[in-house]
Amino acid sequence: MSFRLQPTPPARPNRCQLFGPGSRTALFEKMAASEADVINLDLEDSVAPSDKETARTNVIEATHDVDWGKKTLSVRINGLDTPYWYRDVIDLVEKGSDRLNQIMMPKVGCAEDLYAVDALVTAAETAVGRKSKLAFEIIIESAAGIAHVTEIAAASPRLEAISLGAADFAASMGMQTTGIGGTQENYYMLQGSEKHWSDPWHWAQAKIVAAARTHGVLPVDGPFGDFSDDDGFRAQARRSATLGMVGKWAIHPKQIALANEVFTPSDAQVAEAREILAAMEEAKTKGEGATVYKGRLVDIASIKQAEVIVSQYEMISG
Ligand code: COA
Ligand code: MG
Repeated sequence: MSFRLQPTPPARPNRCQLFGPGSRTALFEKMAASEADVINLDLEDSVAPSDKETARTNVIEATHDVDWGKKTLSVRINGLDTPYWYRDVIDLVEKGSDRLNQIMMPKVGCAEDLYAVDALVTAAETAVGRKSKLAFEIIIESAAGIAHVTEIAAASPRLEAISLGAADFAASMGMQTTGIGGTQENYYMLQGSEKHWSDPWHWAQAKIVAAARTHGVLPVDGPFGDFSDDDGFRAQARRSATLGMVGKWAIHPKQIALANEVFTPSDAQVAEAREILAAMEEAKTKGEGATVYKGRLVDIASIKQAEVIVSQYEMISG
């Protein structure tokens, strides 16, 4: 173990982040009534350039007028390569309500992107005397983003979550696909004439998880575009959960229950984790650091693994 302990990430549920365009106000009440843990009102790529200003006004009004309950409320601002982002930030801080918890920065490519937005947010918050500090969440969705993710994860004390954005990531990497996440037909190995599909998102996900966990930030899986493919969504989400991600985006309300199902530890998983903890407790009373549970080795590392599942379950069930 390193002398420096791994910081714990924010203790709030982040199983599902539901997105909706800031230009579609009719969705806001439906989003607020949903079972998603996080709401992402979008000013970026789901809003046409001609609607940018209206969407910004709509979203600011919604921070005041809509009852968002206990959800984490986040607004995705425009990228730093656009003429919109600074006005997004300033207006959200100056005119948005304190109910707004965080802003999401898309297409982050280097640590300085967070520094720049942090400087602007800090100045605007101080000027208006904002009661709480806005948190940040970011999307890694470019070659530069994944190349610099370790420094990015450490770039601002405001940072709470990092998502992988599969579509822009694929485009930036020059990947030959138009799919948003999930199985890629041409990414396979052959054994004889039998095809075995592999996961082209795996390394980027694992790299994000490592960077995020190092700095106490929540790693999140981004969108799954084909919202008529429930099994495909579940399979992608299960892989992400297995790799250490805590949740996934929903780009359609159908995907909320699927994400909540996968990212809430099941009763069977929790029961098994508690049995392992009990077995290790018993081993400890006998002065043993390792024992046998259902025919397999469990040791002191197993306590930490089991505690991940139990503490996730307890945090989610409040
Ligand atoms: N949040 C809450 N409710 C939503 C919703 C959302 N994101 N998207 C659709 N709904 C509602 C619809 O209003 C409709 O409600 P109703 O039964 O009361 O009429 C119901 O869910 C079914 O919607 P459906 O007709 O299947 O979808 P649509 O054609 O209206 O919209 C999308 C489909 C994909 C365009 C829409 O879901 C959407 O804009 N998603 C978010 C896109 C986004 O934000 N992208 C950026 C991040 S990648
Ligand atoms: Mg994107």
